[in-house]
Amino acid sequence: MKTKAFIFDLDGVIVDTAKYHFLAWQNVAKSLGINFTHEDNEQLKGVSRVQSLELILALGNVQITDEQKQEYLLKKNEEYLTYIDKMDESEILPGVMDVLNFLKENKQPIILGSASKNARPILEKVNILHYFDDIVDGNDVSNAKPDPEVFLVGAKKANQTATNSIVFEDSVAGIQAANSAGMTSVGIGEKTVLNEADYNFNDFTEISKDFLLKLINQ
Ligand code: BG6
Ligand code: MG
Repeated sequence: MKTKAFIFDLDGVIVDTAKYHFLAWQNVAKSLGINFTHEDNEQLKGVSRVQSLELILALGNVQITDEQKQEYLLKKNEEYLTYIDKMDESEILPGVMDVLNFLKENKQPIILGSASKNARPILEKVNILHYFDDIVDGNDVSNAKPDPEVFLVGAKKANQTATNSIVFEDSVAGIQAANSAGMTSVGIGEKTVLNEADYNFNDFTEISKDFLLKLINQ
């Protein structure tokens, strides 16, 4: 059996936190008098916290001072953390545990590659922090997806080359990051949205052991 680096995004791949990000951003938008829909929220997936606020401001054509931006970022995260605080194992997305267990049994490095600065507390909350050999998150990188930095750092931590790395992602920015790093990209979600991915699945229940073995031994 060969060894590859298996790099997982967090939000929308392992847990469905997109709904919590949305609720918190919607309140920020409301305070700013900006209409912010579910559709608008798609653009925020995989994007850093600071850039998400910039996108919302651009959407409403609203300008605020840097000081106000800091206040809104803090307010957003405080609300988001109240949702996170209530999370447990039941919020792990379907099929994720089977894939993680199969990779562990086959001694494949499992790495987290997320834009979130809340990655560790979330993994702790849902009780799977110990599955990860390394974590690269929003605290470790300066360039946000679609820049490949987060995945390149992740591959390095697993002592694997980019071509020996596989990325699971639910965002367009994340798929682009994996592709520009020269990694194998696996889109989790709408195929029409993630059409740049090398492989597409609606969720992890569609990922078979044979497919994982093919990735390991390719
Ligand atoms: C990404 C999410 O994983 O993390 C984005 O898809 C989010 O929606 C980003 O903005 C940053 O997360 P956090 O937890 O640091 O605000
Ligand atoms: Mg994501």
